[in-house]
Amino acid sequence: MLKGLILLFLFSQVAAGRWGKLCHSNPTNRVRGTDSYGSGAYGAPRGKLRHLGVDVRCNDNSTTYAPFTGRLIKRVNPYDNGNAIDNGVMMKGQGYCVKIFNIEPDRYSGAITKGQRLGRLLNVQRVYKGITSHVHIEMCNTSVDPTPNL
Ligand SMILES: *[C@@H]1O[C@H](CO)[C@@H](O)[C@H](O)[C@H]1NC(C)=O
Ligand SMILES: *[C@@H]1O[C@H](CO)[C@@H](O)[C@H](O)[C@H]1NC(C)=O
Ligand SMILES: [Zn+2]
Repeated sequence: MLKGLILLFLFSQVAAGRWGKLCHSNPTNRVRGTDSYGSGAYGAPRGKLRHLGVDVRCNDNSTTYAPFTGRLIKRVNPYDNGNAIDNGVMMKGQGYCVKIFNIEPDRYSGAITKGQRLGRLLNVQRVYKGITSHVHIEMCNTSVDPTPNL
């Protein structure tokens, strides 16, 4: 009986993914499919390059959450051009190091708990009109696919 419960618990942990929900408007961490700008999958083509993270659907201005417990390390500017979505944060914890883009974090340092508010999604539609708005999350080691953690 106890063994069954433990198995059920482990299964539900796997089914839910290792990371918590990233965005309020997307409780299942559903990944952005293909739209006119391309696919949100890890490794999808981006011109001659590859998409080095995974895009998790998220409505503009939705609340975003920490996917695991850890620490906020620093601000990251994914585009380095000062556009409306050129903001994000690096966070580390539980053996993970990730960068989360397209968000306005509430802060850039200090402890954070899985599921705690991280910030809000920026106005992705202002920069990429018609795209499936999303949080981009990538491992600090971009050779590693973050998707199995979702
Ligand atoms: C963003 O969301 C917050 C909280 O849900 C709300 O108070 C605010 O008006 C929204 N801003 C925009 C620009 O939609
Ligand atoms: C990044 O991940 C790849 C694939 O797992 C691994 O071979 C490589 O050593 C890692 N690089 C660093 C700097 O950890
Ligand atoms: Zn992306």
